[in-house]
Amino acid sequence: MFGIRRLTLVLLFLSAGCNGGGSTSPPPPPSFSLSASPSSLLVAQSTTSTPVTLTANPVNGFTGTVSVTIGGLPNGVNSSTNSTFTLAAGDSQIVTFMVGSSVGRANYPVTFSGSSGTVSSSAPVTLTVSGAPLTTATGNFKQQVIYQIVTDRFFDGDPTNNDPPQSKGLFDATKTNWQLYWGGDLAGIQQKMAYLAGMGITAIWISPPVDNINVGTPNAPFHGYWARDMKRIEEHFGDVNNTWAAFDSMVAAAHQNGIRVIVDFAPNHSNPDDAGEMGALLDTGVPFATFTSDPSGFFHHNPTIANFNDPYQLQYYTLVDLADLNQDNASIDKYLKDSLLQFQSHRVDAFRIDAVKHATWGWEYSFANAVFTAGPAFLFGEWFQGGTGDTLYFDSHKFANHSGISLLDFPLAFAMRDVFANNGDFHEIDNTITTENTDFASPNDLVTFVDNHDIPRLLSVNNDMNWLHEALALLLACRGIPVVLYGDEQYLHNDTNGGNDPFNRVWMSSFDTSTTAYKLINRMASLRQANSALAYGTSQQRWINSDVYILERQFFGDMALIAVNKSETTPYNITGLFTALTPRNYADYLNGLLGGFGITVTNGSGNNNPVTAFSLPPHTVAVWQSAPAAAAPQIGSIGPLLGQSGISATIAGQGFGVAMGKVMFGSTAAAVNSWSDTTVTFSVPGVTPGSYNVQLTTNSGATSNTMSFTVLTGPLIPVTFTVTNAPATAAGEAIFLTGNVVELGANNTTRDAAVGPMLAPNPPTWFIDASVPAGITIQFLFAKIAANGTVTMEPGPAHTYLVPSIGVGSVTVNW
Ligand code: NOJ
Ligand code: CA
Repeated sequence: MFGIRRLTLVLLFLSAGCNGGGSTSPPPPPSFSLSASPSSLLVAQSTTSTPVTLTANPVNGFTGTVSVTIGGLPNGVNSSTNSTFTLAAGDSQIVTFMVGSSVGRANYPVTFSGSSGTVSSSAPVTLTVSGAPLTTATGNFKQQVIYQIVTDRFFDGDPTNNDPPQSKGLFDATKTNWQLYWGGDLAGIQQKMAYLAGMGITAIWISPPVDNINVGTPNAPFHGYWARDMKRIEEHFGDVNNTWAAFDSMVAAAHQNGIRVIVDFAPNHSNPDDAGEMGALLDTGVPFATFTSDPSGFFHHNPTIANFNDPYQLQYYTLVDLADLNQDNASIDKYLKDSLLQFQSHRVDAFRIDAVKHATWGWEYSFANAVFTAGPAFLFGEWFQGGTGDTLYFDSHKFANHSGISLLDFPLAFAMRDVFANNGDFHEIDNTITTENTDFASPNDLVTFVDNHDIPRLLSVNNDMNWLHEALALLLACRGIPVVLYGDEQYLHNDTNGGNDPFNRVWMSSFDTSTTAYKLINRMASLRQANSALAYGTSQQRWINSDVYILERQFFGDMALIAVNKSETTPYNITGLFTALTPRNYADYLNGLLGGFGITVTNGSGNNNPVTAFSLPPHTVAVWQSAPAAAAPQIGSIGPLLGQSGISATIAGQGFGVAMGKVMFGSTAAAVNSWSDTTVTFSVPGVTPGSYNVQLTTNSGATSNTMSFTVLTGPLIPVTFTVTNAPATAAGEAIFLTGNVVELGANNTTRDAAVGPMLAPNPPTWFIDASVPAGITIQFLFAKIAANGTVTMEPGPAHTYLVPSIGVGSVTVNW
């Protein structure tokens, strides 16, 4: 300020000198300045913007007429005025923009340019096009790109909630104590909707928003995982009365812009049992469960988990010091399900279930079923594991395949991190994808990531922006639903203590929309919408060495080939590369953003067309792709993949046509609830429970591929099955439960179909929690199954049990 004033004085002095002293300068010529208000607009596809007021402000007595031209409007956007119009001095013109349904999600620089004779001025407006408004939740999430937000660390949209009276002192305005609240809130997320939409993000995963403990341990629960009341909103994120107002408002704003909301929900525990509020829980403000005096058995009171390979300890012991909820207790079962369903009724689209490895596995099937019974949703859980060699890897995919809860893809995350932070070998990634694609029934539903709030950011492990870009590009092209951790697109990291928690939970200090990472995410998120190979396709490695990975995704005629060279120095000659892409030239879909270029595909046989040899320079990513119109109805997704008659499920894909056709379960037609070219919703028909090949027939009679769906017997409730006096088991052997309903494996005795392995903290008694159809009489038996599959059946006859119609059940029998 001071400097500018002094400069002005100097200039005045100089100009006075030039004029020979004493004489006055001629009056400045009349001119005008254009101004636009507001200067940024967020507009959803298929909607009209709020009005922009464009004013021609006269300067120095300007009285002329300004001719205005609107520049930079993308195809599909129209303005309410002609693209050229006139404005008299001092006048304003109101302009709105009508955004068509297929305009890409992005930030578009629009310019109003005005001229009058030799004078001109312009007013820039940033037009952010977001996705079309969402009206209902869906069971298909595969096309989404998720952005993970630690709400407290994102943006402070409401300073009045920073240090609320009921939890005073847990806020640090200086942002130096990493264990206190820093001010981010739900209003802040709402205010940054344009930033998110412009990045092409279609879903946000927010840290747990429930009311957390009000007393520090001394740490504050800024992360949200220390619930005190799962039916209210935390006052630091919403308002002092813990109401849903800010939450509902944020969800509505997200949906208005085509952004789905994923709530992180933790059913395993309440809060620390040794500090703060000592594990206690409230139910909508009313005291409900006390850990320190627990006559009703709301909590498990077991030691801290010591062996993370022991399924009994994992589920029934205490995770660190977190008061461990007993999900088999009828009151806790109801509390947790009611809490989750309340979020669903507040229009949440999906849930990330915290610590699914630590809550009771069998109970979680009924938890998921409660959600699907209430309406369409997508569920994924946190099953922390190091890789596909993990002791419990089998249990992880068995859980994902049968529970209705997909998983965060930790094996792929650790492989990616090894490659892109430790210069590991690409075979690690490729082997993980191959193994998981065999073991998981729906690999495209795995939720993939390279960074999260529990591990150091990639840039803290290795501060190499190239590798971050390459990791993000591959993540966004790879099978599974990708998650971008907030701030990665701004290259944020804090390396204190290796960048470990809490130093990975950085303050979002920058919202720059021009970073390479921001643009890359936008571009790849757009591809996920436009090319079904990314959401629904198969995965095939086409060329690999330790530095180079060329991955092909294919869904019928939709194809994408991504090539990454992560080497710092070495270019590689790519010879002998084949692709399913049809013969022609392909430009780099990323337009050279990461150094990519075009390729030539020549004629080969079948799906193996040769790519003309090329050199792939170090630190290069290229994406070549093609997505022709679908030649037939093609199913890429059913969600959920299991459920009882009457629940709503979603089929997604392409080429369904706009006129309603049929959804067939074998020879039985399902009631169709909605039909579009890419999405069909239907009610599961009342067929005999079991596995069905679902097929879609278009209105004109064309039939699709099939996809498998398991019809359950009925809505599920959790039952604890106990067998006493089971036979002795040798190493590798365990007792399993099987029964006459599909939920118990339909009398099958493979390790994958039967329920188990059961748990034996006190052999020869074994027990397990399993979710079974409410109000049905079931028959069941136990079996000893060896690692090689050899079965020793419990001698019959089968046990009989009438499952309660509500609540939880338990049954004990003698082998
Ligand atoms: C895993 C979460 O991601 C982590 O941040 C949290 O502290 C624990 N589960 C316990 O809720
Ligand atoms: Ca705040």
